[in-house]
Parts: sequence; structure tokens; C-alpha cells
Amino acid sequence: MTRSYGDFHSHLVPGVDDGSRTLADALHSIDRMVSAGVTHVITTPHFRASLTVDREFGAYMAFLDRRWEAVRRAVSDAYPHLDFRRGLEVRLDTAAPDLSDPRLHLGGTPFVLVEWSMFTAPPDAPELLARLAAAGHAPIVAHPERYGGIDKDLVALRAWKEAGALLQGNYGSLAGQNGPRARRLIFQMLEEGLLDYLSSDFHGRPEYTFHLSDGATELTRRGGAGQLDLLGKVNPRRLFEGKRPHPVPPLQTDDPVTQMLHGFLR
Ligand SMILES: [Fe+2]
Repeated sequence: MTRSYGDFHSHLVPGVDDGSRTLADALHSIDRMVSAGVTHVITTPHFRASLTVDREFGAYMAFLDRRWEAVRRAVSDAYPHLDFRRGLEVRLDTAAPDLSDPRLHLGGTPFVLVEWSMFTAPPDAPELLARLAAAGHAPIVAHPERYGGIDKDLVALRAWKEAGALLQGNYGSLAGQNGPRARRLIFQMLEEGLLDYLSSDFHGRPEYTFHLSDGATELTRRGGAGQLDLLGKVNPRRLFEGKRPHPVPPLQTDDPVTQMLHGFLR
């Protein structure tokens, strides 16, 4: 496969969250992403949804605009062929956020990257996701494999999808970055065909590992080359065009050791 990767979850805007600290951090991170085969990047600083209904919203967005413009200019000078856009990782800490500002969306598309507070989904998560979807803000839940309280049959994740949400897993979870539970959950999601995308969630510092390649290698090793192509390339690239993802066929795991481990860990 020669098609390149699209990555729409990363933290590369200096000085606004726990990602890149400086422009040098951000450029170093972009270099690693490009070297791994990424041609399309949306960077997504952490953001609290409750800020959208706070009077500080305008001032905070003006601050973000200035930080974004600095990194955008530096990246476009150094990597003129990279499609580099802005988005946010919106923490849903309120039941009624106003997501109408296009800067809250992913790179000029209808899609919005969302996460839950405290790595725990609220009981009314499906209703909240359905309201966002009905308002035209296509929600993508970031790293579902990392939340607490996900039942072993993934009923909760199915309810989010039925409410209109899409699901984005982290490459690092495939590689074990987030521990054995997240790794088990992401492979279970793959086996049940629930995942729509993979992205790096790279926090843009030289001392951090960029997990795209080792996650991709692990998925391929388990027979998921076709899934990797859809989740990491085809579907993210469709997102950059504002199009919905293609369905991803369930991963067939016939490796007996993996099967035994899954049965044991469940
Ligand atoms: Fe993130």
C-alpha cells in the first residue's frame, strides 16, 4: 500500500496544553509524523466544552488563534506539501455545549473530536452524542478504549455509535502504550468492527514516543493490514474531504495465543 496516512488527533500547538512546548517541539514532531508516512494532519489542543457558554470564550479563542497562526506559518514554511489544519479535542464537561463556532470542528469539516471528563463517560452519553449529531456536529469519540466503565460486551460503545458517534482509537493503544486493558479493548473493538479511525494523539515532544509505526506493525502482525489501510488512511483521508468513513470489516483473529489471552483477560 502506498496511500499515505491522515492523522486528526495530536497536540502540536505550542503553549496551550500538555503537548508541544515550543515551535521547535512542534516542528520536530511534524518531522517524525511525515517520516512515518503522514501527509494530512489536524492538530487538536485540549479544550473544555463548558468554555463555549462562558463569557471568556472569545478571548480564549483569540489567544488560540494567535498560537495556531504561529505554528501554521512555521509548518507551512518547512513542509509546504503537508495538509496541516486546526481542530480541538473537546472535553464534554457540560450537557449543552455550543459547538457552532467552526474553529471547534476538525479542519473545516462537520466532524468534532470529543472526549469525556476524567476518562469516564457519563450515563447520558448516548443522549448527548445524539443531540450533537442532530445539530450537525458529527461527533467522533477519541480513544474509547481508554475510558473506565466500558462493559465487556461493549454495549456502551454500541450505544454511542447508535446515537450517531464515530470512534477513533489510538495507535499507542495497539502497541500497549495505555496498558493491557486498553490494548484488549481496542482489539476487541477491531474484532467487532466498531472502530472507524486510528490516530496518534501525539503529544508533540521529542522525549515522547510517536506510536504510529509500532501500532501499525502490531495490527498488521495480527492480520489487520486491510483494517489498518481503512482506519489509518482511507477513512481519515475521507474526513479531510468532509466525507463519512467506510465501514471496517471485523478483524479475524485466528491466532490461538491471542484468543486464549483474550478469554483469560475478559
Ligand atoms: Fe488527545
